[in-house]
Order: sequence, then structure tokens, then C-alpha cells
Amino acid sequence: MSSAKKPKMQDRPKSRFSRRGFLGGLGAGGGVVGAGLLESGASAQTAGAKPVGPGAVAITLQINGKPQSLSVEPRVTLLDALRDKLNLTGAKRVCDRGTCGSCTVIMDGKAVYACSILAIEAQGKPIQTIEGIAEPGTLHPVSRAFVNHDAQQCGFCTPGFVMAAKAFIEKNPNPTYEQVEKGLGGNLCRCGTYVGLRKAVLEAARAAKGGQNA
Ligand code: FES
Ligand code: FES
Repeated sequence: MSSAKKPKMQDRPKSRFSRRGFLGGLGAGGGVVGAGLLESGASAQTAGAKPVGPGAVAITLQINGKPQSLSVEPRVTLLDALRDKLNLTGAKRVCDRGTCGSCTVIMDGKAVYACSILAIEAQGKPIQTIEGIAEPGTLHPVSRAFVNHDAQQCGFCTPGFVMAAKAFIEKNPNPTYEQVEKGLGGNLCRCGTYVGLRKAVLEAARAAKGGQNA
């Protein structure tokens, strides 16, 4: 087992969904949570907003370009909705508290922790999961680069890293190794494959510009 150091908290990208903000948002609902959440974080503070829950409510999520209708209790996270309701198990549950990045999906063009977002709050936003980034039987260039660089061991963190890398490259088409290290600092790998996966991200960035794979 490698002794690769975990990324420091301060190195994690600021654009990531903030667990503190998430918890703060729950705090804004206060005791309302136990009795049923209001329709969204934004509307929670609007006088006269219609409460929903605590029982299951019908919602529609835009997953990988298609509307998916499901029924969830308002307390259900996007991660649990994906895994338990839609059978999209690529995003993994490890810490379940916004720390490890194994649950990363892309929502509204940003890499987010699916374990830290309520499914009802994800309505109306385009969501991309690892299952939707390539046609069945093919590999997305980021996934292919991970294979080329042996950037996984147990593979449990890999879907989250691939999604984080995809979102990162779309915003940083010419990254340096150091920028990749910092940009993916919100994802952790217990097997310590950091060097390989950073090289994979550099290769995928080159490939996205039409360059040669390493
Ligand atoms: S399971 Fe979501 S960040 Fe760890
Ligand atoms: S490859 Fe095992 S946790 Fe990353």
C-alpha cells in the first residue's frame, strides 16, 4: 500500500459543493427538517412555501440527458436516489459526508458530491454520471487514459475521479501537473494511485485538444 499523502483541506477546489454550506442550509430549515422539508433551499425561507414530505414525493431528475421520474423522501440524497432508485451504481458511497469524492457526479457543469445534495434539490439541473459519459462498450477518453496509466487498483474511487477529471479538464484545458493535483484535491484514493491518475488527466487533456495520447 502506498504512503501517498492525502490532499490538504486547503488544497481542495473552492468550486466544490461545500459540506459546511450544505449543513448550514439544513440549519436554515431548522426543526422543519424533522417535520418535512420545504420545496428547496431557496424557497425554504419564502413565506407561504409549500411544505413537502416527510413521506415520499414524486420528483424528476435530468440524468444523462433523459428525464427520470422517481419517488423519494425529501431527506434522500442524490447519491442514494441514483444508486437505490435508478440503479446507477457507478457513483460510490464511501464516507457519505462530503469528504472522499467517491460519489462525484457532474451537475450543472460542476463536479459535486452526490452524497451532499438532496435529490429534491437536484431537480431541473442536468446531471451526468459515469454511466452517461460514453456509449456502452466504449471508453470516454478520460477513462481510457486511466487505463493507459494504470491509475486504479481496487477501482472504488475511480468513477468519482473520472467525473472530477472530466469536469476539471472542461474548465482547464491546458493544466499543469500541479494544477491537476490541486484541482482533484477533493477526491481521495486509499490505494494511493495519485501519480498515475494525475498523469492520466494530463493525457486526457492533451487528447481532448486532439493531441497524441501518451
Ligand atoms: S461518499 Fe460522497 S464525498 Fe465521500
Ligand atoms: S484505486 Fe482503490 S481507492 Fe483508489
